[in-house]
Amino acid sequence: MSEKIYDVPAEWAKRAWVDQAKYKEMYARSISDPNGFWAEQAKRIDWMHAPTKIENVSFAPGNISIKWFEDGILNVAYNCIDRHLAKRANQTAIIWEGDDPSQSKHITYQELHDEVCRMANILRTRNVKKGDRVTIYLPMIPEAAYAMLACARIGAIHSVVFAGFSPDSLAQRINDCQSKVIITADEGLRGGKKVPLKANVDAALAKADGVDWVVVVKRTGGKVDMNPTRDLWYHEAAAMVTTECPVEHMHAEDPLFILYTSGSTGQPKGVLHTSGGYLVFASMTHQYVFDYHDGDIYWCTADVGWVTGHSYILYGPLANGATTLMFEGVPNYPDNSRFWSVIDKHKVNIFYTAPTAIRALMQGGDAPVKKTSRASLRLLGSVGEPINPEAWEWYHRVVGDDRCPIVDTWWQTETGGILITPLPGATKLKPGSATQPFFGVVPEIVDADGKVLEGETTGNLCLTRSWPGQMRTVYGDHARFEQTYFSTYKGKYFTGDGCRRDADGYYWITGRVDDVINVSGHRMGTAEVESALVAHEKVSEAAVVGFPHDIKGQGIYAYVTLMAGVQPTEDLRKELVTWVRKEIGPIASPDQIQFAPGLPKTRSGKIMRRILRKIAEDEPGSLGDTSTLADPAVVDDLVNNRQNRK
Ligand code: WT7
Repeated sequence: MSEKIYDVPAEWAKRAWVDQAKYKEMYARSISDPNGFWAEQAKRIDWMHAPTKIENVSFAPGNISIKWFEDGILNVAYNCIDRHLAKRANQTAIIWEGDDPSQSKHITYQELHDEVCRMANILRTRNVKKGDRVTIYLPMIPEAAYAMLACARIGAIHSVVFAGFSPDSLAQRINDCQSKVIITADEGLRGGKKVPLKANVDAALAKADGVDWVVVVKRTGGKVDMNPTRDLWYHEAAAMVTTECPVEHMHAEDPLFILYTSGSTGQPKGVLHTSGGYLVFASMTHQYVFDYHDGDIYWCTADVGWVTGHSYILYGPLANGATTLMFEGVPNYPDNSRFWSVIDKHKVNIFYTAPTAIRALMQGGDAPVKKTSRASLRLLGSVGEPINPEAWEWYHRVVGDDRCPIVDTWWQTETGGILITPLPGATKLKPGSATQPFFGVVPEIVDADGKVLEGETTGNLCLTRSWPGQMRTVYGDHARFEQTYFSTYKGKYFTGDGCRRDADGYYWITGRVDDVINVSGHRMGTAEVESALVAHEKVSEAAVVGFPHDIKGQGIYAYVTLMAGVQPTEDLRKELVTWVRKEIGPIASPDQIQFAPGLPKTRSGKIMRRILRKIAEDEPGSLGDTSTLADPAVVDDLVNNRQNRK
């Protein structure tokens, strides 16, 4: 197989923080002397008490314990705002670009300070204290950043719920962490369409207890119901508080945030990240992976509802005193040139997006890109799912004019920050490969039995060592943390991803090997979609698998067995799609629903998903051994009625 390799451009090797020799030297040190290496890195942030204990980690069965910088004391918001004020009070911290191209604004570090203090004071005057949970259900508006940083300032733990989630999903997340306060907006605005956020909160709160206050940001001015004993307008409350708010002193291992993510069960997990290690790691990866230098304009297109938004719109860039762009809209509104016009409008130097967006825009051809200049661009990034080499090449050639390196960054909600990635001044690029481990990261590829595979190989990706940005626990359920990540392969963290290592030691992530699917870079548990389907009165049983999708990476394929006597009609198919959207959110809409009189089960009753995946992939010729099925005949019906014929 001939493989294209892109060398590090000479000017990059010269000006970047890290060149090839430095990468080797720093990586070796990070492995041979982790305590010394990370003690030095900890100095990138300001501590009220500098840590003297660096790493204190156990991956031992029955005693999973992860602590970094544990005697350090800091405040994350202070590090992202206050410490920059002496030098950067008038520098733009956030460029906000609205859904409507005529709307944008620049927020300086001083303004950010003042707004965050106001929001923090609103929370403090409502009795929110260190350790309390606050759920944030906001669109991509500056108030989302204010809310997150306000929580960090007073030591409250934020749980941001993506504004595309349904009232039920929101209620589930509010209940799990028992939030006292919700911060939301009247409505969101995306691609010219309104999203009824406050109404969704009202519906969620009918199913959740313990919420004292709902703070409502006015975004569209649309009509909403206000409950006078519970709901307050942000702009009214903000007018009654000051722009000064002392920061809470936090231990390095005090929680910073919870972020729910999907796994192989129906219940999303509350991934818990803490303060010191997370911030050191987010800041460091942002600097080195994006080769961030003072004065750069940096844009990550993610939503703050996902971890990418936490680490690489907010915490990493702001800890580094950067100018970070926050975009309310979508890539194709008002037209397919939107990303590239925004890059020209704000002179963006570093651009970080997802393969699904690249593939969708690639379908619209080169013209919408080529009519813009993009001369400011220096570096491109990709995250969220494997990027196919065709999309990589297009991104490089058409968007980057063959001039900008691409950093394909592999990581997870659980990892807090980027773990496998090129460094643009150091790493030769291979389209489709996330390339090499970041400092302190030791990947290992194992087979199904846990045997460690050396050299050129394919298997399951584990990490044998901790890094400061690692999640610490599943909120409220440490046993589940161990069960999910440390029980498949004892003594190491299992990522859930398949991976190939090539002859050059480059890593190629092949996708999830568990019951998680990745739809447009959004992580979905097949079990979540299944439980939504079986909650419908006409559905008796459901099985969901992923299938390759040209734009989304993976699509959702649902096999549905109906209750006796229910007719499988087109209308019912549509009704079920709408139902899942309502139960979970639009990102979970099934692309295909196949009515199945029976599902392929083993004699012990386990659904054989391998067979369902092959049928969904339109590969009925390669079903493999079906002789262990309780009733092999069900397969014929499934094959004959498959929905996805090429
Ligand atoms: C899963 C984690 C990382 C923040 C966004 C997603 C997949 C992520 C890559 C990449 C191949 C990737 C993995 C991973 N993934 N980045 N560069 N190449 N796959 O976070 O929702 O926690 O999903 O996304 O399968 O396990 P997440």
